[in-house]
Amino acid sequence: MRPRGEDAAFAERLWTSLYFWGIPGSRPGSPAGGLLSSAVWWLSSGRGVVSVPWWLRVLPSACPGPRPRASLAFAHCFLLSRRPEPLGRGAPLLPGSRRTFSNEVGSKAVLVTGCDSGFGFSLAKHLHSKGFLVFAGCLMKDQGGDGVKELDGLKSDRLRTIQLNVCKGEEVERVVEVVRSSLEDPEKGMWGLVNNAGISTFGEVEFTSMETYKEVAEVNLWGTVQMTKAFLPLIRRARGRIVNISSMLGRMANPARSPYCITKFGVEAFSDCLRYEMYPLGVKVSVVEPGNFIAATSLYNPERIQAIADKMWDELPEVVRKDYGRKYFDEKIARMQAYCNSGSTDISPVVSAVTHALTSRSPYTRYHPMDYYWWLRMQIMTHLPGALSDRIYIH
Ligand SMILES: NC(=O)c1ccc[n+]([C@@H]2O[C@H](COP(=O)([O-])OP(=O)(O)OC[C@H]3O[C@@H](n4cnc5c(N)ncnc54)[C@H](OP(=O)(O)O)[C@@H]3O)[C@@H](O)[C@H]2O)c1
Repeated sequence: MRPRGEDAAFAERLWTSLYFWGIPGSRPGSPAGGLLSSAVWWLSSGRGVVSVPWWLRVLPSACPGPRPRASLAFAHCFLLSRRPEPLGRGAPLLPGSRRTFSNEVGSKAVLVTGCDSGFGFSLAKHLHSKGFLVFAGCLMKDQGGDGVKELDGLKSDRLRTIQLNVCKGEEVERVVEVVRSSLEDPEKGMWGLVNNAGISTFGEVEFTSMETYKEVAEVNLWGTVQMTKAFLPLIRRARGRIVNISSMLGRMANPARSPYCITKFGVEAFSDCLRYEMYPLGVKVSVVEPGNFIAATSLYNPERIQAIADKMWDELPEVVRKDYGRKYFDEKIARMQAYCNSGSTDISPVVSAVTHALTSRSPYTRYHPMDYYWWLRMQIMTHLPGALSDRIYIH
């Protein structure tokens, strides 16, 4: 049986397929939309020949009746729900490209932030299994969090948990000292920094307080900048790697996600500037843009969403409360509750992308661990005119 999160994602993909092929009852689809999605999919799949799945996507454009379209839409949906191996691994658009991982880990040291749960927790374990000396920054180390206990339970000299709140300058400085003094030869520096720690929230612009905007930016954006600046002297010495965990929402915006989106757009801009500056110094900077893995991590859960919603409603200015009304507000919260059960439950594409960025001789600038639905949506949102992409996905 598929996990619940995957069922929700499957239903969403089915809806997309129906949309694309213009099945009655869904929003009006268009042959042009079908052809476009087919072309994008084919180009990105790295196949040298026109494949059967490609024809499955193109043919419905020529089918006039709803029934053949419906059956082909289902075929489309099943193909979309297959694991997007090449895209999940962040393969580039050029056909025939393959990822190559290097095994030369040696005694390289990496620091990952936000290892109490989610991607960070899995990354710490995976990079340790690859042979790295891993410093796992944990927000709850001093409070004896569950993630910390499990990592410490591995009882390995190469996996060291450290108390780290990326927003606190003094904790960041202390971690730099701990890492420096643990390195065999600090003059050779530290190989990698993975800026993973993050928080998320939601809410329309008019529902979101300035305090919330600043709170999210403090962790996701300024935390990333602060950590990077503190560790650059060590990373530069090793001509090492910086991997910043952004999000697909750092490339395309979404309604009701502005407090999160602006921080991830900021991480993208920061990473680009840093990449240009570090290139002559031999440091490589990559960005990983995960799609929807909400069901697999602790970024959201129904209780957290309800707590955010209650606080938001209580703090809304009277005019906003009156103009939008409770019904509208509750519908938005219900939609967010549904979203938090969606997404892929397998985070290995994210772990694989970060590992590649740290170990490959030629790491990619950007990695897109996400399923086809979100990948296609991201391409359309970022490459087509706004009037078109808004019509397809937003309005
Ligand atoms: N899950 C997704 O679908 C998704 C998609 C795109 C991007 N991302 C990004 O992936 C990254 C990891 O998120 P995740 O999904 O793995 O969620 P997660 O399970 O909540 O992991 C985030 C980690 O960051 C920690 N953290 C929060 N504030 C911190 C701070 N001030 N200093 C240090 N650590 C802090 C959290 O600690 P506590 O648990 O103790 O709060 C948690 O361990 C985030 O940057 C997120 O924006 C996630």
